[in-house]
Amino acid sequence: MSKILVTGGLGYIGSHTVVELQDEGYDVVIIDNLSNSSIEVLSRITSITGVKPAFEQIDLKNKEDVKQFFKKYTIDGVIHFAASKAVGESVDEPLKYYENNITTLTYVLKEMTANNVKNFIFSSSCTVYGQADELPITENAPTKPAESPYGATKKMGEIIIEDTTKATDLNAIALRYFNPIGAHETAKIGELPLGVPQNLIPYVVQTAAGIRECLSVFGDDYDTPDGTAIRDYIHVVDLAKAHIVALNRLLKNENKAKCEFFNIGTGTGSSVLDVINAFEKATNKKVNYKTVDRRAGDITSAFADTSLANKELGWKAELSLEVALASSWKWQESL
Ligand code: WQD
Repeated sequence: MSKILVTGGLGYIGSHTVVELQDEGYDVVIIDNLSNSSIEVLSRITSITGVKPAFEQIDLKNKEDVKQFFKKYTIDGVIHFAASKAVGESVDEPLKYYENNITTLTYVLKEMTANNVKNFIFSSSCTVYGQADELPITENAPTKPAESPYGATKKMGEIIIEDTTKATDLNAIALRYFNPIGAHETAKIGELPLGVPQNLIPYVVQTAAGIRECLSVFGDDYDTPDGTAIRDYIHVVDLAKAHIVALNRLLKNENKAKCEFFNIGTGTGSSVLDVINAFEKATNKKVNYKTVDRRAGDITSAFADTSLANKELGWKAELSLEVALASSWKWQESL
């Protein structure tokens, strides 16, 4: 049974991916430093799958710990989620982001290549495209100057990985996520936003739950049908499943290049007002909102052309916006 390391495996997308890996029969070991996750997620994953993943509380900034890990475990593939991901925070603390997202990536890649671990799946982001000139966005759309240090770490990460695949036996797939939302159907795992949510769906859900007074819609003067910004919201379980097919592609040596890139989205754009309406329809809950000024750094519209992932990975998002939003609400009710 192939043993897969999932870094950041107790986090939002990581935990959903561990569940899908275990359901596929993989032997999973998680590294997490618990800086933005809870150890309780380990028992919740176990309660879903019936299998307790191995867990190592390691901070990937500790080079020696990373080295010792790869001596202790024989790993067949790595799915790398561990990183800081708050766009706003990255503007205030760029060095925290470059250390935590880039330095750690180099330590993981260094120990993988030193220990002949050849299969690497990277958590990238549609943020590398900035405001694309053409929609839907394909993988060969030009990447744009990053809007934030967070976005810069995703662009730099892809370059570091691609260069490493050229110089070593490493094979890699970077999955460029659009906007992950929703929670596992059991409502045992989901997004655990710390403090005031920065992302739309956690804020919508907390407003409906009465935790937040009112949702601020950041701008209604965009060049879109209803004036609010458009994104491609993908259910986190669909996103998790994309990691499994990408990993299988590498384990079976079916990749057509040493480093490949795939957009992982639904292919459908939804505006902020679309999301609010869909949430209210899916949950019968009212969302109290007001329109305010645009948020700095936001783009008008982004949604994926997913034909490459459909064709090459045989993967397609299956779950609808309404199903995803209903799962977010069910998760909130469980908290
Ligand atoms: C979505 C839309 C906001 C909050 C970022 C990163 C991406 C990924 C997800 C990490 C936008 C609007 C939001 C609110 C609002 N990062 N909004 N009121 O900015 O598309 O993507 O987060 O995983 O890499 O770039 O996601 O959820 O913050 O915003 O009106 O209170 O909702 O303006 O149009 P975003 P988001």
